Amino acid sequence: MKITTKSLAAVKSERPIVAVTAYDAPTAHYADAAGVDLILVGDSVGTTQLGFETTVPVTLDMMVHHTAAVARAQPNALLVTDVPFALAHDDFSHLLNACRRLLQEGGAQAVKIEGGAALAPTVARLIAAGIPVLGHFGLLPQNVHQLGGYRKFGRSEDEKSSLVEDALALEKAGCFAVLCEMIDGTVAGTIANELQVPLIGIGSGPHCDGQILVCNDLLGLNAGHVPSFVKEYAKLGAATEKAFADYAADVRNRKFPA
Ligand code: KIV
Repeated sequence: MKITTKSLAAVKSERPIVAVTAYDAPTAHYADAAGVDLILVGDSVGTTQLGFETTVPVTLDMMVHHTAAVARAQPNALLVTDVPFALAHDDFSHLLNACRRLLQEGGAQAVKIEGGAALAPTVARLIAAGIPVLGHFGLLPQNVHQLGGYRKFGRSEDEKSSLVEDALALEKAGCFAVLCEMIDGTVAGTIANELQVPLIGIGSGPHCDGQILVCNDLLGLNAGHVPSFVKEYAKLGAATEKAFADYAADVRNRKFPA
């Protein structure tokens, strides 16, 4: 049955939510066949598929293109897509137009936006305009150039209270769920208990209401840096290289075609 923003929220009290990223139709097909609850077309498409060093160069057109590919797999999972770099801080009508394209041309059911309490008024306006929003606080990879790198959040008392504030503000703005990235696990547990809506974590410990991983990381298809919190469930990178090598050897040895 098709998962909606409403039915996802109801899962919070029943069991952990399973979320994963996908950027193309075949990956979305297999993730959906495996029964994941939520597929995110993350702007991590930039680093995982497009060869960029960060998510900053990813444009709206790229997000629409990859979201539409995932939507063509017709997943039952809730389909959420990322609002790319800095658009959320643009003029509201530009942001609304961008979200409209992601839903109308991309086929997403909801958007994810990086930003905490400061962005809550904008999030509330989008939701009032009929755009369902998944909040995203903690580490905001789109701010990498400001942060000077990726790090864990919530180690100091000040940071802990601003994380709680971010989560509550996003819930109050109307987000159907919020995602926390790289936050202290104990703080994540406290926030999950305080929120009515689901808290989906990445690199934020086991006490969230659900988990999300980047598909390339969990599939072992990441030639670059693999974050320490990742568990690899397959070694598709190594398997792919071996398949290419076997094919090359067969062609060179005139074994293929037989
Ligand atoms: O773009 C992305 O993949 C993300 C992760 C937090 C899942 O936002």
